[in-house]
Parts: sequence; structure tokens; C-alpha cells
Amino acid sequence: MLKIGLVGVGGISGEHIPVWEAMENVELSAICDIRTERMERYPEKHRYTDFNEMLEKEDIDILDICLPTYLHADFAVNAMEKGIHVICEKPVSLKKEDVDRVYSVAQKMNVKFMVAQVLRFWPEYELIKEIYDTGKYGMLLSGYMNRLGTCPKWSWDNWMKDPLRSGLVPYDLHVHDLDFMIYAFGQPISMQSHRSKRPEQDYISAIYNYEDFFITAEAAWYAAPMPFNAGFRFQFEEALITYVDGKCIAYQNDNTILDLSLGEVGGSGSLNLPRTNAYANEIHYFTDCVLTGKFPDKIRPAELETVIGILNEI
Ligand SMILES: NC(=O)c1ccc[n+]([C@@H]2O[C@H](COP(=O)([O-])OP(=O)(O)OC[C@H]3O[C@@H](n4cnc5c(N)ncnc54)[C@H](O)[C@@H]3O)[C@@H](O)[C@H]2O)c1
Repeated sequence: MLKIGLVGVGGISGEHIPVWEAMENVELSAICDIRTERMERYPEKHRYTDFNEMLEKEDIDILDICLPTYLHADFAVNAMEKGIHVICEKPVSLKKEDVDRVYSVAQKMNVKFMVAQVLRFWPEYELIKEIYDTGKYGMLLSGYMNRLGTCPKWSWDNWMKDPLRSGLVPYDLHVHDLDFMIYAFGQPISMQSHRSKRPEQDYISAIYNYEDFFITAEAAWYAAPMPFNAGFRFQFEEALITYVDGKCIAYQNDNTILDLSLGEVGGSGSLNLPRTNAYANEIHYFTDCVLTGKFPDKIRPAELETVIGILNEI
């Protein structure tokens, strides 16, 4: 039985905790947050307001870091130095040098470390990578990815609105789509971006140029109360694949229309593939790596460094 500890019982922990709870052979035994009220809904867990005390008193195998971004690397290093495997929310850091820092400690201590870049585990995004890799619909001609919503007002201490703690829209939202591009298509040849940044809103539009295609990506925290939405449109030689409002459709040039929706949210999934949850997929993948001793190579440090290098230019 693997013992799990989780630190940062804020917004995103609500996606992680049910996954750990539903797994067999793991026990989420301890949680930690500086706000005791955030832990009240989990009375059966060992609850800590001090992270070091949790590490001292609990015999944890895996730590799940759901803290504000600026704390990720230091907390990961602290736990790994004590021989604990770490899965950490995105982004790993705002600083490129932290990538080498965390992976060096993981190597030295012989523990696993993974940044939970959830789109790499998101069925509809994985499908795009598969279609691209197999050439099922011919060559990729262009892509469009978006991640748009209103400015976050719910984060602890308003850390998300602080550039030094969150990195704002590039590191909070656009990182998802850029990380997926680097994973699926490799490093772009060039990038051009535009940004409209005010204290109360932040919008970016970027074009990534590859040898045979280009991808336009938009991300925003608007001041206006726009409901969050994220999706894509990929134009292949023989089909257009869209992912809008959780529904993934292939419009084939032969006039056939296929519903490819695979995840928990979305359409009926006419391919009858199993419905999956990307947060569960990433946590299961990491746990399997810990159990089998395999390096979690679905996310590679060099790719994370490339992403941070590009984000720093936006
Ligand atoms: N993968 C995704 O889809 C996704 C979505 C949202 C957020 N995130 C990432 O998850 C991370 C957390 O975001 P969030 O929206 O949950 O933020 P949040 O502000 O809702 O939660 C952070 C929690 O950490 C706690 N905390 C702060 N300092 C602490 C400390 N020193 N010790 C213990 N607890 C402490 C806060 O009290 C808060 O409850 C961020 O890095 C963000 O980028 C990922």
C-alpha cells in the first residue's frame, strides 16, 4: 500500500483528491494547507498546517504538490531530499534553472519526479498527437488552440494576480497549450507573440512556426466575466478536427462527420472508446512509474526547459 501526502488543498486539489481516493493499493493518508478551513471537508485525514511537520510525522511514499506555482520547486526538492517521490502541478517553475535543480535531486535520491502537464494525458489532445504521428489524415497544415476565461479572483492571497508568484497568463494558462505543442510536434522554428496586459486583464496571441505548418494560440484572463473555455482546431490535409465545448469532431473531406469525444465531458463518443479523466490518467501513470521503477518519460526535463524558455519571451 503506497501512502500519499498532498500539500495545497486549494482549487486544483479538488481534481486530485477524488482520484487518489478511488485508487486501490494507495492511501491518501495526510494533507497539508496553511488554511485549516480548506481541510475541514476531509476529517478522516491526518491534517497539517506545517509541511515539514507532515514530512516528519508521516511515512509518505508519494507527495502530490498542488501549491501556488512559486512554491513548487522548493517543496519538491525538500520532499525528494527525504526520499519521497513527487508529482507536482504545472508549471514546474517560472525559472528555467529549477528544472535541472529538481531533476538532479530526483536522480541523486533515486526517486521519481513528474510535472502534471495534464494535456499530455487528455484523451482528445492525445488523439491529435496520434493522428499527427500516424499520418491518418495526411499532413498537418495548421492549428489553433485557445484557453480563455475571466481573471481569477479565488486564489489564496490573490497569488495568481502576482507576476512573481504565478507568471500570469503565459505560465498559468498558455503553458498548457505550449507544452502540448512541444510534446506533440517538437520545438518550433520561430514564434511571434502579441500581448495586451493591464492590471485587471491579460491576453496573449502567439503564432508558432514549424517547417510545414503553423499553430496559432490564444490565452486570456479577461476582466469581463467570460465563462472559461478551452479547445482546438487542427487542419489536416484530409480532415478538420475540432474540440469545442468538450466535443471533439472530425469533419472528413469525404463528407463523413465523426464524433471523437473521449473524455468525461463531451459528446457521446461514437467510437465507443472508454471515457477517461485526464487528471486520473496522469496520477495513474505516475503511480505506475513509482511501482515499476520506470522513469516518467512522458514528460522530459528538456521539454520543460524549452517551454519556460519560450514563455520568458512572451
Ligand atoms: N492542471 C490544471 O488544470 C490546473 C488547474 C488549476 C491550477 N493548476 C495549478 O495548481 C496549482 C495550485 O492552483 P490552485 O488554483 O489550486 O490555487 P489555490 O490558491 O486555490 O490553492 C493553493 C493552496 O495552497 C495553500 N498554500 C499556500 N501556501 C502554502 C504553504 N506554504 N503550505 C501549505 N499550503 C499552502 C493555500 O492555502 C491554497 O489552499 C498552481 O500551480 C496552478 O498552476 C493546475
